[in-house]
Amino acid sequence: MNYYDLNVKKSINPLIINSPFFTEWYKIVEKILENPEFQKRKLFMHHHNITVWEHSILVSFKAYMAAQYFNADKNICAIAGLLHDFYSQAWISTEELENLENGKYTSLMKEKKPFYKMHGFTHAKDASLNYVKFFPELENKKITNSIKRHMFPLTPIPPRYKEGIIINIIDKFNSMSELPNVFEFTKKTTKKIATTIISPFIKKD
Ligand SMILES: [Fe+2]
Ligand SMILES: [Fe+2]
Repeated sequence: MNYYDLNVKKSINPLIINSPFFTEWYKIVEKILENPEFQKRKLFMHHHNITVWEHSILVSFKAYMAAQYFNADKNICAIAGLLHDFYSQAWISTEELENLENGKYTSLMKEKKPFYKMHGFTHAKDASLNYVKFFPELENKKITNSIKRHMFPLTPIPPRYKEGIIINIIDKFNSMSELPNVFEFTKKTTKKIATTIISPFIKKD
């Protein structure tokens, strides 16, 4: 997949593009979306059915909308929302990502790690350092804290600023809705197990 496209709007959900708030949000995040390193997040899977690119845009846009309602800083919410999962190492391997730049985004995945060094506990800090590396002009204490603390309560320290709390909550709701439907999953698994057990007993002509 050729992940890079200067025509960023092609890779954004039409529901967001058609929103009356799109133009103002887009002005804030345009430079990040056009950045080649950020566009690689089209190849990073966030959950089984959504990329980090899609997830980050959703969190950013929803946080930006929420900022207006809660009287928070819209710029901080849009930027920190977009960069909250801008971690340097992928946690789900895909063939495309493994083939990208000699596998530098998946190289640490194969290492055995202790529980507390698993992705869920470490990626927020990683993202808070990685964004400064690629977007030094955006460095800001509210953005850094909102990114670094977005995994609370999995990581013990809560966000310090209102904007970080907004991102934390929106990210949780978004991530939950991206997980596979439990009933659908159970139904499919039961069917698979039943077929495996029963099929040897079915008489074939
Ligand atoms: Fe995250
Ligand atoms: Fe996230």
